[in-house]
Amino acid sequence: MIHRVYNFNPGPATLPLEILQQAQRELLDYRGTGMSVMEISHRSPEYEEINNSAVALMREILGLGNNYKVLFLGGGASSQFALIPMNFLPAGKTSAYIDTGAWSDKAIKEAQKIGKVHISFSSKDQNYTRVPKPSEIDLPSDAVYIHLTSNNTIFGTQLHEFPDTGNIPLIADMSSDIASRRLDFNRFSLIYVGVQKNLGPAGVTIVIIRDDLLAIAADDLPTMFSYKTHAAKSSLFNTPPVFAVYIVKLVLERIKKQGGLEAVEKVNFAKKERIYQVIDNNTDFFRGTVEPDSRSWMNATMRLPSEELEKKFVTEAKAAGFVGLKGHRSVGGIRVSMYNGVSLEDVEKLAGFMERFKKAN
Ligand SMILES: Cc1ncc(COP(=O)(O)O)c(C=O)c1O
Repeated sequence: MIHRVYNFNPGPATLPLEILQQAQRELLDYRGTGMSVMEISHRSPEYEEINNSAVALMREILGLGNNYKVLFLGGGASSQFALIPMNFLPAGKTSAYIDTGAWSDKAIKEAQKIGKVHISFSSKDQNYTRVPKPSEIDLPSDAVYIHLTSNNTIFGTQLHEFPDTGNIPLIADMSSDIASRRLDFNRFSLIYVGVQKNLGPAGVTIVIIRDDLLAIAADDLPTMFSYKTHAAKSSLFNTPPVFAVYIVKLVLERIKKQGGLEAVEKVNFAKKERIYQVIDNNTDFFRGTVEPDSRSWMNATMRLPSEELEKKFVTEAKAAGFVGLKGHRSVGGIRVSMYNGVSLEDVEKLAGFMERFKKAN
């Protein structure tokens, strides 16, 4: 028997066991090459197939038109905080940002180093307990783009309705909810994702850019910082994080086999319903920290009646095999991260544990 815990880590997060096992089977001899994926050239036909399949699957699963480039880059989502304004915020122009938490704030701070930033909405003075309704977003008509974080990993909020930004490019950090639900992804001019929550291991960042935005990217940037470089070379300008892209490809194949985002969404809906049901049925004990309309399907955040009980919860949960439940160090409390790799059965087991813990305490 392999020892595996119930993994609720906020990212890097759990990967489906069968994918780890497939990677293990293929680790030493990738498809008859006598080499690991980590050892073959990124210019070999084998890697070319991995890269092309991952792009095609991403397009197919998200329902993206052919007018999008899908790039596999290094640097993490955090690098995109700077690369986006470097590529799309010319001197003298204004960008717009929606501030819904720590990651939005980091993106804003980087953009401010490059150029002008207009804050279109902020829930900072409400401790980031909610996201805006589209009508609350103040978008200057001359903004060169508007940036938002679709899921706020630390605060446990998520956008369920996106603004119609007309001709202004909509840019989203979807690091913690990509491919977790159906969306009209074609509304976005740029989507970026650190894959280590829903799609694979840390090390690769996916950047999806629509051609009309790519066309107006700055031309005078250092080569590696230019999205045009990576788009022109299909992510092979330099050595990409090959092993991480390979795992992403396996995860995307699994999503396709499961029935695409419709099937994934069904499971994710059931998972978050079960956890929020425990919270709503025990409001004297599990205190949800965000407004119900803004609740995240991926990260459910809560406080218990005391910090001692929170510590006890984390300790007893760990002893029962449930790991990764401690809230982010900046906010405390408990956070249940239930990304795509977490099964409904595991969430049901955790919900049962939560109910028993409440009764006992
Ligand atoms: C929403 C969001 N954006 C950005 C990041 C940063 O990603 P990376 O560590 O890949 O730079 C994270 C990491 O948790 C995140 O949750």
